[in-house]
Amino acid sequence: MLSCKIQCFTILNIVIIVMARNNSKNYTFPKDFIFGAATSAYQIEGAWNVDGKGQSIWDTFTHTHPDRISDGSNGDDAAKSYFKYKEDVRALKEMGMQFYRFSISWSRIMPQGLPNNINQKGIDYYNRLIDEVINNGLKPVVTMFHWDLPQYLQDLGGFASDVIIIYFEAYAEVLFENFGDRVHMWTTINEPYNHAFGYEVMTLAPGLNTTGVGIYLAAHNMIKAHARVYHLYDKHYRAKQKGKISLNLSVQWSVPEHKNSTDDKEATKAELEFTLGWYAHPIYSKEGDYPQIMKDRIRNLSLAEGFPTSRLPSFTSEEIVYVKGTADYFALNQYGSYLIAKGDTGANPSYFRDKGTLIEPDNWPKSETSTWESVTPKGIRNIIKWIKEQYGEELEILITENGFADNGELNDIIRINYLATYMIEVLKAIHFDKCKVIGYTVWSLIDNLEWSNGYSSKFGLYHVDFNDPDRKRTPKQSAHFMRNVTETRQIPY
Ligand code: NOJ
Repeated sequence: MLSCKIQCFTILNIVIIVMARNNSKNYTFPKDFIFGAATSAYQIEGAWNVDGKGQSIWDTFTHTHPDRISDGSNGDDAAKSYFKYKEDVRALKEMGMQFYRFSISWSRIMPQGLPNNINQKGIDYYNRLIDEVINNGLKPVVTMFHWDLPQYLQDLGGFASDVIIIYFEAYAEVLFENFGDRVHMWTTINEPYNHAFGYEVMTLAPGLNTTGVGIYLAAHNMIKAHARVYHLYDKHYRAKQKGKISLNLSVQWSVPEHKNSTDDKEATKAELEFTLGWYAHPIYSKEGDYPQIMKDRIRNLSLAEGFPTSRLPSFTSEEIVYVKGTADYFALNQYGSYLIAKGDTGANPSYFRDKGTLIEPDNWPKSETSTWESVTPKGIRNIIKWIKEQYGEELEILITENGFADNGELNDIIRINYLATYMIEVLKAIHFDKCKVIGYTVWSLIDNLEWSNGYSSKFGLYHVDFNDPDRKRTPKQSAHFMRNVTETRQIPY
């Protein structure tokens, strides 16, 4: 009890200090700023083989390699949202949210991922979900692909093969035809950066290890597939459905380890170009294409390693034009920051990045269960500013993910501190830096399967009892906190 008091006091104190540093009368979210929470199909739905759903790469991966998931678990049942989606929507409503960001399982709609076999029961499920969201006064924000590729398409090469582009377009067409009358906010692909990693590391599906080749091919084809879907919408659906399309890009903020070191500063710049610029530059920059620094670096490395050409594929000049401008807003997923120093490290292979070394300083606060997540609220303001400076003042930014992992405690005071301090930085980006941030999404609505961390890393505003066959949901303190934020449109301290 006493330690809680001390902890609460410290946390409150931090918040008050942060608030006091600036003029507090500006700390109100603009009138049209929207709040929501997010999930993804594989992480919450369960029902992995119910009602005609086909197998996805995450079904295959978790069944074949339980050893690569920290608790040996899988998403066969997950939080059972396929059956309990109404409760999930009610939770959003109770928190006063304006939207629900969720994803569609491609293999639930098309068991093999192919347009000649459409599973009507899958369409029916998402119709029920979308209607439930709308009938509760919320808007659906829908991600088409959140890493659960139909296994059949993986067997054809997955995103490493450009065959995927026409099938992704055909899938998107089915989504626009069936749901586009009610869905007006789309993202095509969630965090292509991390999905491409599945072609590089064994811990994310498809779990290949292509030593620096597949990762770039997969990324390239995801960018082209995204652009194809954007043009499809533009040509056939936009006039009638009047929606917006983007893709979710994730990035950690980077800080030079020694702030006066030119080398560290260069490595920091390169880090941002290699993580965010890789995807954002071809789409949002005036000139299009991959960042020059990345093209040079990977070409030089590839040639030095004996490859006949760069491992980074190139866009033709027509493709550069075709890809450029294919997003109506910037969908940003942001969690933590790294210190960057010049130099090689095994954990940061030279064939992948620039020569920067990622450092997670011991004295930075971290999430309880995830090694990559530092609690560094200033990073979100900096990255928002970086996006504005790089890609233009008029670009609207929707924060599509931000959140904190712990062990699932109901009195999740540290999550509240995380959300409060990050949202304060978002407010500063809006009021002081004049950035056009239009909304904020908490990852996640409910506890769920955190990929290779299994169920041990919990991000939910709502607790889910995974020992209960009915997966009882219980609001955490952070859910009450978010209710307070949406009601007052301020950070309530
Ligand atoms: C990134 C992903 O989009 C989501 O699936 C994941 O659970 C969270 N961030 C937390 O790692």
